[in-house]
Amino acid sequence: MTTGNVDGKLFRQALGAFTTGVTIVTTRTPEGVDAGLTANSFNSVSLSPPMVLWSLSKKSSSLASFSAAEHFAVHILASDQEALSGQFAKSGTDRFAHLTIERGAGSVPLLTGCAARFECRTTYRYEGGDHVIIVGEVLAFEGFELSPLVFHGGKYGLLVKGDEDGQSQGSLSSDFLGLLLHRTHAQVMLPLREELAAQGLNEVNRHIISVLSLGDRRTGAEIIKLLEFTGHTAEPEHFQELVDLGLIHQDSDGLVSFTAEGRLFAIRHIAACKAAEADATEALSPHEARLLKSLLRRVVANTEKRVPDVWRRQKYWLDNNMWGSKPQ
Ligand SMILES: Cc1cc2nc3c(=O)[nH]c(=O)nc-3n(C[C@H](O)[C@H](O)[C@H](O)COP(=O)(O)O)c2cc1C
Repeated sequence: MTTGNVDGKLFRQALGAFTTGVTIVTTRTPEGVDAGLTANSFNSVSLSPPMVLWSLSKKSSSLASFSAAEHFAVHILASDQEALSGQFAKSGTDRFAHLTIERGAGSVPLLTGCAARFECRTTYRYEGGDHVIIVGEVLAFEGFELSPLVFHGGKYGLLVKGDEDGQSQGSLSSDFLGLLLHRTHAQVMLPLREELAAQGLNEVNRHIISVLSLGDRRTGAEIIKLLEFTGHTAEPEHFQELVDLGLIHQDSDGLVSFTAEGRLFAIRHIAACKAAEADATEALSPHEARLLKSLLRRVVANTEKRVPDVWRRQKYWLDNNMWGSKPQ
């Protein structure tokens, strides 16, 4: 498309192919009024002296504030600050309402919880069509090592970094999803298996406890059926081992339940699972851990149709009345 007769929508669309972070730029007028707006036109200009720029729409309600401002601050937003970005892009509201504010050079309001922030002295303002290009010298800056919020094609996104060790091109053993998941499972569960083994419990015992944690008072047959999914077979001795340890008991109707001690044991086991998960995902940022789980859930949903009907969690759970009553 030539630019002689620009279609604004198509031009915006094409510009949207450029992925940016999201910033909030703030200032304080000589009259002592705080102003600020969301801007993704931020960029670096010079390392020495340190300089940055951004552009402000001439239609912006903040134009007068920034035209008079000697100082401004740029906040690079963190991945969990999408709502704040919305707040500073909304017209006709108090954008600083309910925020914790610190003060920087020129008493400019500084926001917290962002990935980085730069306190600047305005050095140049250039005409830039329907925008004003504002250049500032960086007087002070801070980086907080948080994952950034991303903007692309008019939508917010999260950053997924490339495979840093380049192993994605490797052999089947290091690249096949099935093996990666199997190895991940084995390694994440290792501390839990060791802890239970020290208490005389094996994997089948653990699975019986996990099934009962979802709701006890189940028949032995029901528990055996649920365990099939894990590839384990619960034999009478596995139940007996748990009875001998005082963790479960079977009532006169043949229903298996936790004892008080067993219930406590199950709660501690869940806490140990959470700790194992925290250790396993230590090298990931909170949003990467969320992303990992959300992608895994999609793989689970995508492969579930290959699983025999009776094993599909939702259906089996409902058909077998796991919570004591069927949802209405
Ligand atoms: C992700 C995002 C990036 C934006 N970038 C800019 C920008 O670089 N410059 C600008 O003037 N406005 C930008 N805006 C719009 C302003 O934040 C604001 O919504 C607009 O100026 C309307 O505010 P007003 O009522 O104060 O004029 C952006 C908005 C969003 C959501």
